[in-house]
Amino acid sequence: MTYSSASGTVDALKDIGFTMNAGESVGVIGPSGSGKSSLMMVLAGLERATSGHVHVAGQEIGTMSEDELARFRGRTMGIVFQDFHLIETMTALENVALPLDFAGRKDAEEAARAMLGEVGLGKRATHYPGQLSGGEQQRVALARALAPRPRLVLADEPTGNLDQETGAAVIDLIFRQCSAHGSGLVLITHDLTLAARCGRQVTMRDGKLSR
Ligand SMILES: Nc1ncnc2c1ncn2[C@@H]1O[C@H](COP(=O)(O)OP(=O)(O)O)[C@@H](O)[C@H]1O
Ligand SMILES: [Mg+2]
Repeated sequence: MTYSSASGTVDALKDIGFTMNAGESVGVIGPSGSGKSSLMMVLAGLERATSGHVHVAGQEIGTMSEDELARFRGRTMGIVFQDFHLIETMTALENVALPLDFAGRKDAEEAARAMLGEVGLGKRATHYPGQLSGGEQQRVALARALAPRPRLVLADEPTGNLDQETGAAVIDLIFRQCSAHGSGLVLITHDLTLAARCGRQVTMRDGKLSR
């Protein structure tokens, strides 16, 4: 995958061959700038591969329109970023309910409330992101990603902005929730001990992937 801009082009991903089974967890490690986030963005369909094919849950996502892709992503994937990406003007509950609303779930609010309870934030439902600590915001982001019971969870350095103890709690939640619901997990991390908790590890280096 190549990024193009007026300042030039960057080949961020080169000859990537990557397959994972349903429900499998894969840890992605590698130095800064090696292409880990780019790999996740391509898997999520948030960046388009400039060549090759990307299949998720049996579907080729490269040929989908933006609308199809957004619907497919909402149904199939839960994405967690290092810096949470919560909507600041919405409460924790509204943030978690949003993808459920998009999916047309009549019970969006109820399901969101239950999910917030599962990440230990049942009492913070009406708080805004700005009123929550980093660890709490990441748990809201996790609840939002997991509430639609996605087949695939993509997490890019989810503990990167958290202290070690808070990060460990967030990671425990990710593993517990993914295994409880049979979701596959791609966990990008600098932390080799975290990656080791995944069923399998792959390494990115200079845009290439090795096992
Ligand atoms: N939007 C972008 N435009 C141009 N180059 C980018 C962009 N995003 C990332 N890159 C470049 O692509 C390469 C891989 O970046 P990235 O996937 O963010 O690596 P990592 O997540 O492993 O740190 C780096 O050289 C980076 O500078
Ligand atoms: Mg990155």
